[in-house]
Amino acid sequence: MHSYNICASVGLVASLLVRGVVARPACCNNTITRDVVVVGGGASGAHAAVWLRDHNKTVVVVEKANQLGGHTDSYIDPDTGKAINIGVQAWMEYKNTFDFPKRMNVSTSGSMEFTTLDYKYIDFRSGLPVTNYTAPGPTDMYPALQRYLDVLLQYEDMLLPGFFNFPKPESIPEDLLMSFSDFVKKYDLGAAVPQIWDSTAQGLGDTMDVPTLFVMQASGIPMVRALLGLGAAAVPASGRLYDLFESIATFLGNDILYSSTVISSTRTNRGVSLKVAGADGKLTCIEAKRLLIAFEPTMENLQPFRPDDTERQVFSKFGYTTVYAGLLKHPSLEIGVAYSNRLPETGPSNYTIFPLPSQVGRFDYIGGTNNIFQFTAVGTKDDTPESMQQLISQTINTLTEAGTIAASEGALTFPAFANHGKMHPRVTADDLRAGFIQKQLALQGRHSTWYTGAAFSAGFSTVLWEYNNVLLPDVIKGL
Ligand SMILES: Cc1cc2nc3c(=O)[nH]c(=O)nc-3n(C[C@H](O)[C@H](O)[C@H](O)COP(=O)(O)OP(=O)(O)OC[C@H]3O[C@@H](n4cnc5c(N)ncnc54)[C@H](O)[C@@H]3O)c2cc1C
Ligand SMILES: *[C@@H]1O[C@H](CO)[C@@H](O)[C@H](O)[C@H]1NC(C)=O
Ligand SMILES: *[C@@H]1O[C@H](CO)[C@@H](O)[C@H](O)[C@H]1NC(C)=O
Ligand SMILES: *[C@@H]1O[C@H](CO)[C@@H](O)[C@H](O)[C@H]1NC(C)=O
Ligand SMILES: *[C@@H]1O[C@H](CO)[C@@H](O)[C@H](O)[C@H]1NC(C)=O
Ligand SMILES: *[C@@H]1O[C@H](CO)[C@@H](O)[C@H](O)[C@H]1NC(C)=O
Repeated sequence: MHSYNICASVGLVASLLVRGVVARPACCNNTITRDVVVVGGGASGAHAAVWLRDHNKTVVVVEKANQLGGHTDSYIDPDTGKAINIGVQAWMEYKNTFDFPKRMNVSTSGSMEFTTLDYKYIDFRSGLPVTNYTAPGPTDMYPALQRYLDVLLQYEDMLLPGFFNFPKPESIPEDLLMSFSDFVKKYDLGAAVPQIWDSTAQGLGDTMDVPTLFVMQASGIPMVRALLGLGAAAVPASGRLYDLFESIATFLGNDILYSSTVISSTRTNRGVSLKVAGADGKLTCIEAKRLLIAFEPTMENLQPFRPDDTERQVFSKFGYTTVYAGLLKHPSLEIGVAYSNRLPETGPSNYTIFPLPSQVGRFDYIGGTNNIFQFTAVGTKDDTPESMQQLISQTINTLTEAGTIAASEGALTFPAFANHGKMHPRVTADDLRAGFIQKQLALQGRHSTWYTGAAFSAGFSTVLWEYNNVLLPDVIKGL
């Protein structure tokens, strides 16, 4: 591979002259050479690294956090010793992808635990119960979910595990382009929407207005099959999804650079050179034949990779919401209750109107002996963990002032607060009609750079693993 010293600079040359040394580039404490550098060690990047090792390729993972897993994390309740999944809750059965946890010696024999809860629907803006709201009953919900699944199956080949067979702009089915509210109307899916919303789709924010394609990515076949009992929603026997990432971390060993970010790079069709900064201030230079990007491709995240105009034209089009999840405690929240945010306009049975970001979706009692509640919240692209903690705190105050929950002296605490950051990348129907997906796919391999993760696939761990299974043979071609 053609490679050169990206550390070379006027300052460096001067310092080399002064010190009279020419050994290794002084600006890098360490230089490593690999077939593939994977940036991001969540579900998609960690799986890709194992796949590449299993195909006899050398690999290094650059991970910003001090652990693998991304949206998969767990919290151990200090009082009960029980592991609680934060973020990813289960692996939704899809093709043979449970082979991957098995490959890592992690079972998929557990199943999600459900606690029977007393659901309270409340307008979190006023703090008042939405008394005339009735959630759809099972005899309406399950047939509606089945109707949704029937339509999803028609488009499976276009969307899963990625857009490999996506139709040309002029042939994109109108079902994928229309707003989700029109789609719900067309197929009479109203009774399924609250479940779709509560499971994953609320992360989109303006879920009812986005092109249906993006709702299908956020709550597609594997999830709907699991809701209908047609597919497994699996967890390890321990209940702790994070076990998988511990096993991967052991397997990859020193081929993971934790707490590390790329600070500069050169990418050509002959390979990539990255300069990576670690938490200890150490600089590592990586020379690799291929780069696999496995993080959310926001413009901020891509900045050190200096996207060219063609890449910018794609990535700058993505709109995002921000997603937060975790655990909270507050003495006013009642054991056994699930508090869900709903709008009064929803009336008794209009299931197409939902709160828009910034909004706190729910506080659900998680069972056990502790008064711990799980929350999810969705912000605009400009929200921050601080602004969302503020909103959660304000919501509890509003519920108290409205008399919906009892006043108490105790404070709000967050045993776990996960900032999932920008998620659910999406574009408009007009962008799709103008060939957005084709332009996005054309970036694969450009400047020796490849992409995995939800923006190119869908927001489910198992789907991402299958996406890698299809993509990675192309990535290693010619290595
Ligand atoms: C609350 C919540 C619940 C969910 N529930 C489920 C579920 O039950 N089942 C399911 O399958 N999916 C679920 N998902 C979807 C989940 O996002 C995907 O399944 C999957 O975890 C996404 O994997 P990923 O590798 O694409 O991204 P991520 O998990 O986001 O991983 C990206 C990794 O890249 C790192 N990173 C980011 N930027 C950089 C950078 N610049 N440099 C280096 N590293 C970087 C991050 O630290 C992270 O480790 C849930 C998501 C959320 C937020
Ligand atoms: C890394 O290299 C820089 C520049 O040569 C040096 O100042 C620093 O002490 C080194 N750090 C470590 C941890 O070796
Ligand atoms: C990797 O290398 C081993 C040992 O040389 C070999 O047995 C195996 O078939 C190789 N695997 C692949 C996928 O090429
Ligand atoms: C899985 O367990 C087997 C048997 O103990 C062991 O040989 C193998 O290395 C383990 N693999 C991983 C990825 O941990
Ligand atoms: C439901 O009740 C709210 C007041 O709580 C009211 O504003 C709204 O109009 C009612 N909706 C319907 C459809 O009755
Ligand atoms: C629900 O309310 C919205 C907004 O008011 C309205 O456009 C839609 O027609 C209603 N749907 C049903 C099924 O009543």
